[in-house]
Amino acid sequence: MSRYIIDLKRQKGAISPEIQGHFAEHLGRCVYEGLYVGQNSDIPNTDGIRDDVASALREMKLPVLRWPGGCFADTYHWRDGVGDPAKRKKIVNYHWGGTVEDNSFGTHEFMRLCELLGCEPYINGNLGSGTVAEMQEWVEYLTFDGVSPMAALRAENGHEAAWKVKYFGVGNENWGCGGSMRPEYYADEYRRYQTYLQNYGGNVLYKIACGACDFDYKWTEVLMERAGRFMNGLSLHYYTRPHERTWDHKGSATAFDDAEWYQTLQNTFKMEELLDRHSAIMDRYDPQKRVGLIVDEWGAWYDVEPGTNPGFLYQQNTMRDALIAGINLNLLAKRCDRVKMANIAQLINVLQAVILTDGARMLRTPTYHVFHMYKEHQGAALLDSFLEPGTAGTGEITVPALHESASLASDGTAHITLCNLDIHASHTVETTLLGGKIASIEGRVLTGAPSGHNTFETPDAVSPQAFTDFKLTAEGFAATLPPCCVVSLRVKV
Ligand code: AHR
Repeated sequence: MSRYIIDLKRQKGAISPEIQGHFAEHLGRCVYEGLYVGQNSDIPNTDGIRDDVASALREMKLPVLRWPGGCFADTYHWRDGVGDPAKRKKIVNYHWGGTVEDNSFGTHEFMRLCELLGCEPYINGNLGSGTVAEMQEWVEYLTFDGVSPMAALRAENGHEAAWKVKYFGVGNENWGCGGSMRPEYYADEYRRYQTYLQNYGGNVLYKIACGACDFDYKWTEVLMERAGRFMNGLSLHYYTRPHERTWDHKGSATAFDDAEWYQTLQNTFKMEELLDRHSAIMDRYDPQKRVGLIVDEWGAWYDVEPGTNPGFLYQQNTMRDALIAGINLNLLAKRCDRVKMANIAQLINVLQAVILTDGARMLRTPTYHVFHMYKEHQGAALLDSFLEPGTAGTGEITVPALHESASLASDGTAHITLCNLDIHASHTVETTLLGGKIASIEGRVLTGAPSGHNTFETPDAVSPQAFTDFKLTAEGFAATLPPCCVVSLRVKV
């Protein structure tokens, strides 16, 4: 039995909806096939965007979408992707499989996608191989509503009105695929590029500087010291891999034993240290917490599915990924004072995807269901909560058995999300709810075998069910979580 205390009166700030954000790169079958099939496809679509996928993403309440990369962003020249699609330049996507990129999905198509999904666009500019003028003109093309060459070009290409774009990234992984830069050099480049990114009309940019690769604390230190005052956000990338010694053998997405399950989840918890230590550096330069920590790439990265193109990063998605998602979303929510956005990599058919497609077929992965179960936290107030986590594991590899977060919505409903990482044992939580009396509880549970996953033949094998294993008590409620599960509770007080 684990004690769990939630205090309705102690609210710790708003959970930014954008921490449940996503990322779509021109990589493998994410954009093409996954999101965009073109207007002439037999697959039902709106302006080329798949209707089935758009409807599933709307249901999940996707708040923000990052595009066009990733490593692709620092090779992308936005002019290649506007104007008559038949005349658009065909280029080689040399980071991701050397495929032909025909640029049929460009700025207008992305903005239309965001409109259909009802989400904020987050555009990542090219600092690595693009010019300052090119980046400046992209922002002008997108957001300037007066008389200018870029506004005229936009109108000529069929969109008279300026769009609203808040989130703009100034380069991606500039320590690696975005230019192999030293932090000192990138900090100066960042300062130069961002100088020319203007706020036009009522559009106010939230400028995001390229941040560190996992444990590179020096990068954060240098960026905050030299460029902190010129940015609104600083990014961080961290991927969970079962085997961290080499990128050649990361581990299989579906075939793993108990030890690998716990090792993967233990690696997931490294996010906690990363968030806290990068935040501590940011606190020294920005005690007011003006600059947001933007975790714009996170998720599980395994070996590709056997027989698929290694450059496409296509992997299956199991209950282990559901737990990785649940833990990360809890960790991010609990740091809502500093973490203002996070983007799981990637949306469809790439890495820890929420949707997989095969021609006209699509399925929702266990990770999709976790985002759906957590969506009530978006914009809600984080509640002070404490859970005795217990431990689970095998041999020397141990993890907390339980993990949670709780929030209060504006209508007074509390939402609680709980994960049981233990493969073999159920766990009971005895909950004390301070500051209110419970009127009713409703719950959902996602559970299954550790390697349980959805296939195109059985797309709903792993899907949420009603959760009823709880009872009201004098202090709150007691709930028994089955092994290997994610639970969401809606508590009316
Ligand atoms: O998400 C796949 C790749 O991982 C991205 O392109 C890059 O930014 C990161 O290294």
